[in-house]
Amino acid sequence: MEKMNEFFERRVNGYDEHMLNEVIGCKEAYSEMAELIPQNTKTLLDLGCGTGLELEEIFKKFPHMSVTGIDLTMKMLERLAVKFSDKDIVLICGDYFRTSFEENKFDAAVSFQTMHHFPKENKLELYKRIYSSLENSGVYIECDYMVETQDEEDRCFAENKKFRAEMNIPENEFYHFDTPCTIENQILLFENAGFENVRKVFRMGNTTIIIGQKGK
Ligand SMILES: C[S@@+](CC[C@H](N)C(=O)[O-])C[C@H]1O[C@@H](n2cnc3c(N)ncnc32)[C@H](O)[C@@H]1O
Repeated sequence: MEKMNEFFERRVNGYDEHMLNEVIGCKEAYSEMAELIPQNTKTLLDLGCGTGLELEEIFKKFPHMSVTGIDLTMKMLERLAVKFSDKDIVLICGDYFRTSFEENKFDAAVSFQTMHHFPKENKLELYKRIYSSLENSGVYIECDYMVETQDEEDRCFAENKKFRAEMNIPENEFYHFDTPCTIENQILLFENAGFENVRKVFRMGNTTIIIGQKGK
């Protein structure tokens, strides 16, 4: 297992091609995510924005969108910055679990293929903060690797726990290991964070999109 930011640093060359051509459903889901963003959206928070693949589709539809993007890996953000030098975008190189978000600031928030690396407890706290950062009736759209059964989820978390124990990794350090949740558990996490009208809106392979709204 590699440290999270080092894992992505080492793979930044060829990253876009990998996501677009090798991960089933991603290419389609980038376009779908842009379609799901409400027409009146002006401000967007992107958690784990990476090299900006979801933003490429979002900017095609919303060229004047004001975006705040957060990512742990500077080299991924450097790629993104080159692509969008003419856009209204603020980039934060940091950990979204430790970055504070202004309350009632964003019309929408997105994350794409980043949340499946973390335990449910951490995600729940983060989702509550995403909820607070949204304007009333703002939406949070998450595309992620999700699984069908509780057994698959439990197996991934158990393997991760075993590897971390073998490597003596402290609890608060991020290492890259896939721990996808079931679609049902993800929906529950959104609901427990306060989101309403939570539903799965896309699935191709394991690539799944869930959307929730703040208020009605
Ligand atoms: C698979 S990439 C997805 C990037 C982009 N959203 C996309 O779909 O191309 C996952 C990204 O999440 C970032 N990431 C992982 N954990 C993070 C954290 N705790 N805070 C901020 N970014 C994180 C990684 O640095 C990486 O760029």
